[in-house]
Amino acid sequence: MKIFLTGSAGYVGSHVLSELLKSSHSIWNVDNLSNSSPQSFARVEALTGCGIDFDCFDIRDFASISCKLDEFRPDIVIHFAGLKAVGESVCEPLSYYENNICGTLKLLQAMDEVGSTNLVFSSSATVYGHPETLPLTEEHKVNPLNPYGRTKLFIEDMIKDWCATDPRKSAVLLRYFNPVGAHPSGEIGESPTGVPNNLMPYISQVAVGKRDFLSVFGQDYDTPDGTGVRDYIHVCDLAAGHVAAMNYCLKGPGVNVFNLGTGRGHSVLEMVRAFEKASGQTIPYTFMPRREGDVAECYADVSKAKELLEWEAKLGIDDMCRDAWRWQSRHPNGFSK
Ligand code: NAD
Ligand code: UFG
Repeated sequence: MKIFLTGSAGYVGSHVLSELLKSSHSIWNVDNLSNSSPQSFARVEALTGCGIDFDCFDIRDFASISCKLDEFRPDIVIHFAGLKAVGESVCEPLSYYENNICGTLKLLQAMDEVGSTNLVFSSSATVYGHPETLPLTEEHKVNPLNPYGRTKLFIEDMIKDWCATDPRKSAVLLRYFNPVGAHPSGEIGESPTGVPNNLMPYISQVAVGKRDFLSVFGQDYDTPDGTGVRDYIHVCDLAAGHVAAMNYCLKGPGVNVFNLGTGRGHSVLEMVRAFEKASGQTIPYTFMPRREGDVAECYADVSKAKELLEWEAKLGIDDMCRDAWRWQSRHPNGFSK
């Protein structure tokens, strides 16, 4: 199978790439390295023993993307490329609309030029906004609360419209919950630049001594211990979910949306305790006011993915923390020296 990956130098993409390389696919990677390092490809090569074909360009560069698709003629495209920081999207909304929406638009136009009809897209549970009912099914109403989430929802709609133009087209929209953890080798993982926004990279940096303490945002939510509850999913489970989604996409035309999560919620304090157990380190923390835009609880109904993709997450929070710690302790500065 010929698979074209955008944004695969990044956190999720590099794990999906490693998973895909377990089978003898022919894969082409494109990334502009705006939020990643070519080191991740070097590490995946070392891990898998497979050479990696990669071009460094921006997917908004129509000439480059259409030329590469024309040359490679993929059976399927898996599209990770995009900006993903919620807070940054509030401060710089136009960069998010420009990068995420225009990037996807150019990709779809280039796919049309070469008659490429199959697409898997990285969406996000953030499209749901405040949950009205839990667990969140794919039918729950969508109401993203920030520009990043609005780009994801707009792209979902754009892909649905794109699909409707040709009865051969097929797309799978994957709404990830909270991807965490790292490859069990400890050689690839999440490598945020600057101060991490997300819980797990922040805890990891406290554990390794790069930050003094964790700020726990909110202790008065209506949850068992008062802290926010999320559906954390191991990035390797997520990667396996992409293989299942790719196979499903190739089965026939149409658009399908799937939640990718574990279906279980865990609080911030549960994650702190699990990380302490996995790392043997103490994670000092202090309570802070709620973070604006945060929801109390968010976890997935995963029955649709289980039934149709025949996939479900297998790893729990102890595995997630163990692998995140292995990566962080071996590579305290991520992919930077
Ligand atoms: P990441 O930033 O690590 O990876 C994204 C990659 O895309 C980076 O390597 C970046 O350099 C590249 N990129 C960005 N814009 C590009 C462009 N215009 N042209 C070419 N390359 C470009 O992020 P990730 O965590 O791996 O996320 C992958 C996808 O999954 C993103 O679309 C993200 O929005 C989505 N997602 C991530 C999470 C999460 O928590 N990690 C949750 C839900 C959805
Ligand atoms: N949290 C803290 N301290 C921190 C960071 C986070 O207490 O330093 C708390 C948050 O308040 C929340 C939980 O930890 O209760 C998880 O927060 P994250 O920032 O790790 O994740 P979010 O659920 O806010 O959002 C993430 C991604 C979004 C994505 C969403 C659903 O950042 O892009 O998951 O997939 F859309």
